[in-house]
Parts: sequence; C-alpha cells; structure tokens
Amino acid sequence: MNSIVSSRVFRNYYRQRTANQWHKVEAEGGVPGAIRPFLAGNWKMNMVPRSGVALAARIFDLCRGVKDVDIGLAPPFTGLSMLSDYIKPDFLRTEYDLGRNVFLLAQDTFFESKGAFTGEISPEMLAAIGVDRVIIGHSDRRTNLGKYFGFGSSVARRLTREFLTKELERLKAKGGADPKIVAALEHLVAEGNQEILAGTAKFFEEELKQRAGESDEAIQRKVHAALGQGLQVILCCGENLEARDTHETFTLLERQIRIALDGVSPRAMHDLIIAYEPVWAVGEGAEPATPDQISEVHDFLRNLIMDLYGEQVASSIRILYGGNVKPDNIVEIMAIPGVDGALVGGASLRAKDFADIVKFGLEK
Ligand code: 13P
Repeated sequence: MNSIVSSRVFRNYYRQRTANQWHKVEAEGGVPGAIRPFLAGNWKMNMVPRSGVALAARIFDLCRGVKDVDIGLAPPFTGLSMLSDYIKPDFLRTEYDLGRNVFLLAQDTFFESKGAFTGEISPEMLAAIGVDRVIIGHSDRRTNLGKYFGFGSSVARRLTREFLTKELERLKAKGGADPKIVAALEHLVAEGNQEILAGTAKFFEEELKQRAGESDEAIQRKVHAALGQGLQVILCCGENLEARDTHETFTLLERQIRIALDGVSPRAMHDLIIAYEPVWAVGEGAEPATPDQISEVHDFLRNLIMDLYGEQVASSIRILYGGNVKPDNIVEIMAIPGVDGALVGGASLRAKDFADIVKFGLEK
C-alpha cells in the first residue's frame, strides 16, 4: 500500500458559507462549491413496512416544498418494496410539493447476483424494486458481526491436540498444503500442551468476536457489484476508538478507502458518495465528533480522492458525516467546510427530528 496521502489541504473548492446559504445554493452539476447536500436516514433494524411508510409520510409532510437538498431513507430490506411504491415522484410532487430529490436506500447488498447464498440480497434484486442507492461497509457490519454471531467459537472448539493431529494427518495425506501451516501444526502437536492450546483458543475467540465482520475485500466486491447494477453507493468508512487512540485513524481510513475503491473507474465515481462515520461517535450515548475532528478527516478523505482520481472527482464527490447527528448540531456540522451531508441513525426514526435535520438552517 502506498504511504498516507499528503497533508495538503484541499479547500479551495469551498466557498465560505453559512448553513443558511446551503439552501440557497442551486445545484449546478460540477460547479465548484455547489455540491448538493444529502441528508440520509439509516433506520437500521427498525420499522415494519407499514410503520416505515407512516414515518416517511410524516417526514414528507414536515418537509413540504424542500427541493434543494437530497433526502434519503434506508429502511430494512423488508420495508423497501412498500416504500418504493409510496415514493413515486408524481405522488411526492402533488402530495408534498417535493421534487425528484427523495431517494430509496438499502442498508447493504451482497456481491453475487444469484445462487446458493441463503439470506443474502443481490444488487439486481434491489434495483428491480426501485432502490436508488445502497449503503456499503457500515460499521455495524464491518465490526459487530463477530459479536452477534459468535465468530470464533468454532475455531476455539477445534483447537485441541486431537483435532490438530487429525488435521495434520489429513493435510499430509492430501499433499500440496502450505508448508507454513504444516510446520505450525507439527509444532503445536509436538509441543503445545492442552492449557496453552486452550488459552490460545480463548484468545482467538475473543479477538474474532471483537473484530470479525465484513472485510475490506468483501466491501470492494459489493461496491463493484452495486455500481455494476446502476445503483449509487454510499461507502462508509470510519475508525474505532482503538485506532483513534493509537493515532492510526488516517492509516485505517486510507486502507478502507483504497481497498474499497480498487478498480472503480473515475466515471463510476460519479455514482459514489462517501460517509465518514467514526465508530466511537455512533449510537445512543456517544458524543459526536468535534467540528475539528470532522473537518480534519473530511479534508484527508478529499485529498485521498484527489490523489486517486484527480480534481474533477475530488471536487464533486459528496462526503457525509455520520455519528449522533441531531437537530441541535446539524447546522454546526453542515457549516464545516467539506461536509456535504449527513447519515443519520437514531434521529432519523423521529419524523420531526429528521425533518429538522433536512431543513437545517431554514427559518423554523
Ligand atoms: P446515530 O445517528 O444513531 O449515531 O447512527 C449513525 C449511523 O450509524 C448512521 O448510519
């Protein structure tokens, strides 16, 4: 991997503006400073289809006439169809005086188009029911899956001398095994006492529970699959507390972005939005990142996109912030140069709160 991008600050494309001015900026595709804000609600695992439509209706009612920002709603998979039928542009225009600025978002997708992948949903399936954009690489999926599904317990159960002995015999009989693996197994069988093995097993079990989730490589495949189906992608990235505390934030973010975007063409980047969601700032009880922290990371990400794709893409890509965005901090967050919108969790489940976020900076 190349070294971290230069600390050059990519700011010239932002005119100084107050949050109020956002709503006055007409979107003029590709014109510096005129990035159209995108406020998206990630409902996570909340709302049955009918309550999702009811929530959307309340939000639209409160956002009547708002045409100068993009609004995104991301219900769970089960809510997509019903919401898709509800948010037809003609209906939204006549009923709520909204433009074509409402987008249906899925919270995830798989990278294969069909096959024996029980429980997964492909980009084709999402496109077929009218999904516009898909969130990929959310931290809930990057880091929490091991905890929920107990990843590691099957490894731990197997780390016994009996199992390793059998495994070694099997590998040797089959031939062609990685010599490093064979050597390690031989060592463990010969030297590893049961206590050491049990301790090692426990260690890996805990590690996997804490850390296992979607890999950067799986996320890359999802990005390609989604873009290939004409879906726009909201690519999430963000560091955990450990990375921040050990000053690894930028290294980690750079890895996440470089791997996820590997092979994505400059042209396809027009369909890609980045969401920076520091893991430690997400969810009930957490504090949002400070404006300085947000600004520093958004600058870093835009510089990285500049290095990867050049000025045109870097100046037009939208970079959202997510992590405890609320009505009382949205104005401050949107005033940070380089912030082009927000990905909202908890507050997006309350119609009034989400509508206030969408209408940030407007007279109440
Ligand atoms: P909160 O707004 O609840 O912190 O969640 C942020 C988030 O994860 C959105 O995707």
